[in-house]
Amino acid sequence: MIDKYGRTIDYLRISLTDRCNLRCVYCMPEEGIRQIPHTEILTYDEIMRICRCMADLGIRKIKLTGGEPLVRKDCAQLTAILKALPGIEKVTLTTNGILLREQLEALMEAGIDAVNISLDTLDPNLFQQITRRDCLDQVLDGLKAALSYPQLSVKLNCVPVIKQKENFVAMAGLAKQYPLHVRFIEMMPIGYGKQFPFQDEESIKGVLKDAYGPLIPVTERFGNGPCHYYTIEGFQGKIGFISAVTHKFCKQCNRVRLTAEGFLKGCLQFQKGTDLRKLLRGGCTDEELTEAIRQVIWNKPVSHNFYETETTQDETRVMSQIGG
Ligand code: GTP
Ligand code: 5AD
Ligand code: SF4
Repeated sequence: MIDKYGRTIDYLRISLTDRCNLRCVYCMPEEGIRQIPHTEILTYDEIMRICRCMADLGIRKIKLTGGEPLVRKDCAQLTAILKALPGIEKVTLTTNGILLREQLEALMEAGIDAVNISLDTLDPNLFQQITRRDCLDQVLDGLKAALSYPQLSVKLNCVPVIKQKENFVAMAGLAKQYPLHVRFIEMMPIGYGKQFPFQDEESIKGVLKDAYGPLIPVTERFGNGPCHYYTIEGFQGKIGFISAVTHKFCKQCNRVRLTAEGFLKGCLQFQKGTDLRKLLRGGCTDEELTEAIRQVIWNKPVSHNFYETETTQDETRVMSQIGG
């Protein structure tokens, strides 16, 4: 299905839960965030019904995200259900990695196609400062487990919170050492992210060039998202950049987002969308559900306007409630 600006929409991001076992400073407050009660969260049956209608409309790729998706019970079971839906080609996961080691085998059996691990630093002290938890080793165990499956596509998401050259170099070095892609993400001014400056792509590239040599652009894509990639001589994996601020990619946007409570959003930045849970629990037919989804896709906003204008339509949810 295309939206009114001619973009093909074939990618759905589903936030399975707003809960998380970390408290990254740019994503969640230390305490006091209202957790959505379980009864207000979509059940797996409800998610499956929405995805069936979405697949009929042309959604082919599904991303499971959070909060932290693996804190929700039976994520692997949902993966298997979604993989079995006619039309769905890829189901992928974005996780902070803490529970990955213990759940990966089940996820692999369920047919997960790729795993992105959010990891901003390899320094235990900095990790604790950023996530407010002392569990870097668990994430690294999750990463090792992921790398033990050579057929699994593994990527790291690094949101540089402070300008620390050594950190950029160390994170990128993982793509030299292991067959994985390391992606640097410009901090977006959404929720708590507004309190932090973004580290722009060009300055990170400059640091990496000094440390490792030239970054050569590659046109190949390694997933379904907005990342663009470079290769560096001697590296096993690629270096990617998701630069929503300095390289706006909205013209190529291919996705919509479903929050854990069942609100379907057209764009990360705006509140605009439809409460599908209300429809489902009000006894709608599949045709009515499909029509509501079609409307959200058709009316997807043309682009974000980070750092430009603020409007009353701007999203008030924080990142852990949207799913990144
Ligand atoms: P791949 O299939 O591996 O390409 O996944 P992905 O990059 O789509 O997903 P992931 O969950 O790893 O997200 C990486 C980063 O991209 C996160 O910071 C997301 O918030 C950001 N991102 C994903 N989609 C969008 C989008 O539509 N707009 C903006 N501004 N950021 C996005
Ligand atoms: N800007 C950019 N990326 C963010 N993420 C969380 N908050 C922000 C933000 N404000 C990232 C996480 C995770 C992904 C789903 O979104 O680090 O890798
Ligand atoms: Fe949890 Fe991810 Fe938010 Fe960190 S960025 S608090 S890992 S949801």
